[in-house]
This record gives sequence, C-alpha cells and structure tokens, in this order.
Amino acid sequence: MSTEDFKRAAAEAALAYVEPGMKLGLGTGSTAAHFIELLGAKVAEGLDVSGVPTSEASRELAERHGVPLTTLKDTPELDLTVDGADEIDGRLNLIKGGGAALLREKIVAFASKRMIVIADASKRVERLGAFPLPIEVVPFGKESTRRAIERLARDLGLGSDVAIRRAEDECPVVTDSGHVILDARLGLIDDPERLSVELNRIPGVVEHGLFLRLASLAIVADQNGVKTIE
Ligand code: 5RP
Repeated sequence: MSTEDFKRAAAEAALAYVEPGMKLGLGTGSTAAHFIELLGAKVAEGLDVSGVPTSEASRELAERHGVPLTTLKDTPELDLTVDGADEIDGRLNLIKGGGAALLREKIVAFASKRMIVIADASKRVERLGAFPLPIEVVPFGKESTRRAIERLARDLGLGSDVAIRRAEDECPVVTDSGHVILDARLGLIDDPERLSVELNRIPGVVEHGLFLRLASLAIVADQNGVKTIE
C-alpha cells in the first residue's frame, strides 16, 4: 500500500463523523482532496451536507464532485472541519500551511465546533518543527517582516532560516488572500504557545501555521490500519 492509500483510508474513516444536515469545513491538500472526493460520492447517494472550502483549489474540487457549497457569510458557524496537516504532535497541535492555505484553514477550523485531522501516519511527530513553519505575511514590507521573524527565532533560541516561498518560476507564491508565505526552518519547537503569541505580535504577519488546541481528533493511517488519536 502507498502513502496515497493511507491518506485515502484516513479520509474514508472521517466520513463516519459526518451527519446529515452538517455544515462542514473542507480542508486543503492531497489528504483533504480524498475526503472531498469521497464526500461527493456520499452526496450523490443522498447525503445532505454543505461545505465551506478553505482554498480555491478545494472549491473547484468540491464543485467537480458535486459537494454543495456555502460561505462563512451565509454560514458563520460550522459543525465539523476535516483537514490534513503537515505535522501532528501528541496533544493534537499541528503545523499546517504546506499548501499555502493556512489562513482560510485556520479561520474555518476556528469557526467549527469540531476539527478532525486526517493524515498518513508519517505526519505524527513527538515535537513540532521538523517541517518548516509556514507564515502568511502581507507583501508590503515582506523583507522587513522576514527579518523580524528571524530575529524572534534567534531570541527564542530557535533556528532562524526564514525564506520566502517561491513557485517554479521563482516568483513568490501568492495565497488565495493575496499574501505571501514565509517558510521558517526553526528546528524543534519547545514552546509552540509562546512562539504563536510572539509571531502574531510582528506587524505584517497575517497568520502562522501553528494550529494549537484546534483539533480534537486525529485519524492517521499506515500499513497497520487506521488509528484515532484524541
Ligand atoms: C495546506 C495544508 C495541508 O493540509 C497540509 O499541507 C497537508 O497536505 P497533504 O494532505 O497534501 O499532505 O495545510 O495548507
């Protein structure tokens, strides 16, 4: 079995938590894409749900698979968000944003009564930080913001290599909300709560990929099967 099979198995297991009438947050990334596709099949069988996509890519995918969509304007409170992650620690704190959708993902997760994370088991870590932390920043002053984050990282005793994420054409990646992404190679993070607070203090930082106390359940899959972590 491949990693893709594990992602799909986790996505399939998450369907068990979806109830008729639910308003859903639809995540972004390859694992969330499996969920959206499988959800579409359930909708075709008559399941009545609607979803708020966390990216334009997920919106297109949901439309293609016939998942009815709504917006946070029309549906400001959601029942359940199902999304992937780049790292998941033992307390279900996450690093997200590998797909540059962290801002909408966090807004949608925060607007949901419950967030379930789905992933292949390689995303489980003891401590967050091996995956570079994505940070969404305003394009204006991005170099100053980048340096401010490097200074903060040094002050906190963390690795301080912070780079602007670039696409294949070398242009900065622009998010669905018109911002750019910095990837911060910080090394293992001892105190994610403090880092979160300090990052949010830096002008120009819109949001960062530390999702703390947002997820209440993780569904991870590997060759041994599907496991839930609460
Ligand atoms: C997008 C995300 C994704 O959920 C995260 O990058 C995991 O992606 P994948 O399921 O493709 O491994 O946070 O911003």
